[in-house]
Amino acid sequence: MKLEMRNIFKSFGSNEVLKDVSISINEGEICALIGENGAGKSTLMNILGGVLKMDSGLIYLDDKEVEFNKPADSLDAGIAFIHQELNLINDLPIYENMFLGREIKTKRGRLDLEKMIKETEKIFEKINVDLNPKTMVRDLDTSYKQIVEICKAIMMNASIIIMDEPTTSLTEPEIERVFNMMRTLKEHGVGIIFISHKLNEVMEICERYMVLRDGKLVAEGEVSQVNTDDLARFMVGYDVRTEQFSRDKSLGDEILRVENLTHPDAFRDISFSVKKGEILGVTGLLGDGRSELFRSIFGAEKFSSGRIYLDGKKINTYSTTQALKEGLGYLPGNRKENGIIKDMNIFENASVVTWPKYAKYGVIDKQKHKEMFGEQIKSLRIKLEKVTDSINSLSGGNQQKVVLAKWLSSNPKVLILDNPTQGVDVGAKEDIYDIILELAEENIAIIILSSEAQEIIRLCDRAIVMYHGKIQGEVSGENMNEHDIMRYATGGELRISQEEGMEHA
Ligand SMILES: Nc1ncnc2c1ncn2[C@@H]1O[C@H](COP(=O)(O)OP(=O)(O)OP(=O)(O)O)[C@@H](O)[C@H]1O
Ligand SMILES: [Mg+2]
Repeated sequence: MKLEMRNIFKSFGSNEVLKDVSISINEGEICALIGENGAGKSTLMNILGGVLKMDSGLIYLDDKEVEFNKPADSLDAGIAFIHQELNLINDLPIYENMFLGREIKTKRGRLDLEKMIKETEKIFEKINVDLNPKTMVRDLDTSYKQIVEICKAIMMNASIIIMDEPTTSLTEPEIERVFNMMRTLKEHGVGIIFISHKLNEVMEICERYMVLRDGKLVAEGEVSQVNTDDLARFMVGYDVRTEQFSRDKSLGDEILRVENLTHPDAFRDISFSVKKGEILGVTGLLGDGRSELFRSIFGAEKFSSGRIYLDGKKINTYSTTQALKEGLGYLPGNRKENGIIKDMNIFENASVVTWPKYAKYGVIDKQKHKEMFGEQIKSLRIKLEKVTDSINSLSGGNQQKVVLAKWLSSNPKVLILDNPTQGVDVGAKEDIYDIILELAEENIAIIILSSEAQEIIRLCDRAIVMYHGKIQGEVSGENMNEHDIMRYATGGELRISQEEGMEHA
């Protein structure tokens, strides 16, 4: 099916978000839609998905004009939409989510649970996902939710699939599986619109690219004719540097030490330490336990045994409030569920943690904090109208910048950042890296959890690699490369030690 969107205009109040955008996708084509945070990508796709109404413009499917007033209209026309902010219902099991609104019924009109479970199993098998369809969605972590969303879209037998940042929480093997699936779909004539800030993904899977900047289509063409630097330049309008940071490492004393930390199921016997001013990376694949590990250290989850020392003193982080008091900061890995508070405005979201830094006699100095946030809006280039607007009015990447801003200004002793640049565009990533480096210069210890090897390599002094809930290895210096990281992440060893090596080989 051929899709065309012609002369699309859309404003939110006085904010003109799409200005005369025209795009088209051919049958069996994988097309990237890229652009800076707030450029209008999700808005354009929400119009195509029947979620938002355009102010003016036309949509054609196979040269026939169509009108989408609600998501069901778009779906009925054969368009499946994987949303940037995942759309699953936590209180239902996976299989019911897979068939939401299109439940399979028995002849007597009851829900055919067996059949829905079977069908779900089939598709999981096809893409090699080890998930039980009966699991409640609330018990899944973000990566698995993303996978379920993708499977759901595939199961709809759509002719066009919109993927709005489907890979933000996935690790390399899963991304590869998703790509293989996309290739199969393409062979069956499905057209795919793929939104991602990871430009190497665009290079790998897409044939054509379309670039939005400030609500206008500024570039389009064949992917084979460009490289990632070109794409980055089209997006932001200037050259984005991508060289390795080199910094003078003068690390301070040890600040955080973790000994033999063990969790009922997610990780076991974890020991490591971090120094003041150090940037430590923690990476691995899905199921490595890193998010659970740091949630436990921060008091958001219970561990069964082990000890945590801060500044040489044993601490008990039995709650997150306690952890904050001790001087730990923690940006959660899943923005939608743990990072933002939907009913609060932008400024409130940027100031939910009340820090001693702004408190005068127990009252937070709101004015001081407003000034500080004002500076961050500039340095992180947060695109917003008014700080009193709802957090929902921001694009995904800008929401991420707001939650990040809060933690970057929190001035803790140890700052834990889980997937800090999820959904953030290439230019803004550099701004964030700069700020993280500055904080390290100020002697704050920083721990970066990320599944992007490139991010770890660029930013961190050293990294621990986890595999199935334990530390598989550590990389630094010349071992700090994608190959060695991946080797540990998949359970391998770097060198074979003389006595015991052979069994690892
Ligand atoms: N519901 C809304 N109300 C008001 N403004 C909105 C709303 N949704 C989006 N906007 C504004 O529209 C602009 C484009 O947002 P959009 O979500 O389309 O960006 P995007 O290109 O998807 O960015 P990102 O890469 O960060 O996801 C932004 O300036 C945003 O603030
Ligand atoms: Mg978006």
